[in-house]
Amino acid sequence: MRRGSIASLLGIGVIAGGIAAAVALALPWLPKPASEEADRIDPLFWFVIIICIVVFAVVAAVMIYSITHFRAAPDDDSDGPPVHGHTGLEIVWTIIPTLLVTAIGIYSAIVLGRNDALGANVMRVNVTAQQFAWSFSYPEAKGLTSGTLRLPKGRSIQLVLQSKDVIHSFWVPEFSQKEDTVPGIVTTLHFTPNRLGTFPVICTELCGLGHSVMRTTAIVMTPAAFDKWLHSQTKAVSSPDAGVAGAAVFKNNQCGACHTLTAAGASGNVGPDLDKLPAYAQAAGKPVDAFVRESIVDPSAYVEKGFPDNVMPHTYGSALSKQELDGLVQYLVSSSKKG
Ligand code: CUA
Repeated sequence: MRRGSIASLLGIGVIAGGIAAAVALALPWLPKPASEEADRIDPLFWFVIIICIVVFAVVAAVMIYSITHFRAAPDDDSDGPPVHGHTGLEIVWTIIPTLLVTAIGIYSAIVLGRNDALGANVMRVNVTAQQFAWSFSYPEAKGLTSGTLRLPKGRSIQLVLQSKDVIHSFWVPEFSQKEDTVPGIVTTLHFTPNRLGTFPVICTELCGLGHSVMRTTAIVMTPAAFDKWLHSQTKAVSSPDAGVAGAAVFKNNQCGACHTLTAAGASGNVGPDLDKLPAYAQAAGKPVDAFVRESIVDPSAYVEKGFPDNVMPHTYGSALSKQELDGLVQYLVSSSKKG
């Protein structure tokens, strides 16, 4: 091979590799990690990207060089010389990819194994997915439920995921962890949040009309702030004062995102106005208490005119404890009378 050819091959390779590297580095492909697992996955991602850039540069150099140097002259319809392979070259282009792919496989297996391993003092959170909402309950706090996922920083978290209807998928990009929720089986997901902040929880499996809005937030707090929240919520939810308990359940489950309730300062307009519950109950022909309870457990039992059915999740009947449900019903009944 001529020296000039090697120089042009190298030149093209460096330019192609440089362009690929610039594209890789200039755009923010990955969110800033917020878990120990993401901190392990990010270097693995870059390890694979670097290999890809080198392979791309070699292939692009050979291809561009061949296109420009071995171009047939116009009107040259003759066949090229017969070539019967090159054993040395074939051994090289088999061994190098084998080594690269094996290295990626070993590195990935190590990261996967470490990411799946639960730490000491694991905190379990039960996750229920349903068209089109997430609900999180904390066995450590007697099943306290919340519509947002609050977590203490630095603790090994195991999510135990279930679906009430179709397949959904739990994803927090900053945690670099994702898991499907599948009706009929229980799946689990492990991660260790290591950065304070509020991150999006996204459903990443097409699950119906409301798929794009099946979102909530994960809030990573200091362990002290988390304990304080857990205690205050547990205390509020189990308060003998139904107003306090129900208000906490209302807030935790983000009812105000869809409903208006003056007493809670909520002004959502996706679902019926809860200040008008007595009027709705009358239209449904039921006592207010029974009507409110039924509407939470089975939202399809009575659908107010002008609002679509099946928008409110049917999960609350099972996600809320009896005490939480009782508190919420009492709170709604008394607030709507006042409202
Ligand atoms: Cu649930 Cu998409």
